[in-house]
Amino acid sequence: MKKSIFLLISLLATVFSCKELQTEVYNNSLLEQFPHHIKLTWKTSPENSQAISWRTRSYVSESYIEFTEATASPFFEKSIQNMKAKTDSLTSEDGLWYYHTINLENLKPNTMYSYRVGNMDLWSEWSEFKTATGQNEPFKFLYFGDVQRYIHSLGSRTLRQAVLANPDSKFMLFAGDLIHRGGLNKENWNEFFPAGGWAFQNIPTIATPGNHEHKWVAKETKEIAPLWHLNFSFPENGPIGQEGQTYFVDYNNIRVISIDTSAKITSEQREETYAWLEKVLKEFEGDWVFVTFHHAMAGLARNRPPNIRFPEIKALLEKYNVPLVFTGHEHLYARGRMGADFPVYAVSVAGPYQNAIQFSDWIERAGSSIQLYQEIHVSQSQLKYVSKTVLGDVYDSFTITKNDIGKMEFMEAENLPVESLIPTKDFETRYDKEEVETYEADKTKYLKRIKNKL
Ligand SMILES: [Fe+2]
Repeated sequence: MKKSIFLLISLLATVFSCKELQTEVYNNSLLEQFPHHIKLTWKTSPENSQAISWRTRSYVSESYIEFTEATASPFFEKSIQNMKAKTDSLTSEDGLWYYHTINLENLKPNTMYSYRVGNMDLWSEWSEFKTATGQNEPFKFLYFGDVQRYIHSLGSRTLRQAVLANPDSKFMLFAGDLIHRGGLNKENWNEFFPAGGWAFQNIPTIATPGNHEHKWVAKETKEIAPLWHLNFSFPENGPIGQEGQTYFVDYNNIRVISIDTSAKITSEQREETYAWLEKVLKEFEGDWVFVTFHHAMAGLARNRPPNIRFPEIKALLEKYNVPLVFTGHEHLYARGRMGADFPVYAVSVAGPYQNAIQFSDWIERAGSSIQLYQEIHVSQSQLKYVSKTVLGDVYDSFTITKNDIGKMEFMEAENLPVESLIPTKDFETRYDKEEVETYEADKTKYLKRIKNKL
């Protein structure tokens, strides 16, 4: 008996010390000392600059970038330039981190560069990026809806599939709610960046903040979480006070405008935002302008009001003939136009958290219980939009073609697959009885309307 008690105590002591050791190892792991969460963004022109951001653990408070024009030869030591990063620190729920960023400027257009970041013996691997050509030439980019929850286990597969199928994408556009709790690293940013892995080091990101980037922990604050600006270096060409949140990036012949629809702003600032939006739409002389903001133009989740959320923005998008708007927030798929030929509004979801849909009259293509990503193929006179499932199958597709006088024409692809309209998991318990009971009838009515249109 005594012997077994002794054995049990020894076993418990061993387990306990191993757990302590694990925690200790985790908090001080060599992996954490290395620069990580390395990602590319643009703060200034994609032709001449490249912003890079990363973080390190508390022992590495200074960090540097080494870069050079890329060569196939690994013997490029002599041409390396070195610059010190701008560093901020933040103590989050998982300890003290240093966040580093640098904007490389005066780069050559259409040129590949190699870079690594770090300090002392702790350096990242060498990675490459290529500056934009500044020319009108066909290219593509990726667009993702909310990743947000269960990022490691299920959200990550959408990012991997999209990048594996499109390694030559020029950038990845995220329409907000990249994570669930904007102020937390664990289960949030600590899962989001590894989900894209080294793709973030090679393909620049453009992202608009979602309401969850404003939701630091549980309560929505409206103030954007500091981790947004620590993680990303976006342009500061937006309205005062919304730098890096509401902004635009000009990539070759296109402009991408991000509007932070969760920003904590006064009604006066809101008017300034609309004036700014009109200005950046009006002045643009390239071929295509895209607008992204997080909240879909109208509520679509079955338990949300279906009203138009931003009538002032809608009017401007129509006035300036914006072809395509990228949004999220609804955790389902919808695509359609709202009482005008353009824009086409896209609502998508990359992650596994899904909502049931209400079949609003403006929807031309719908989806639920499905993880998706989108390829946007751009040429001077045509846009091709392809929404694919996480398995790589085409789910939705259309083209927008522009003629010589700039008139746009929309054409839906033929032979699209049957829509996934399965209501979300736990539908019966998460939604009101009426929303559940009317689902099948609403779906039938929607399918009839779509069939008649065709
Ligand atoms: Fe969301």
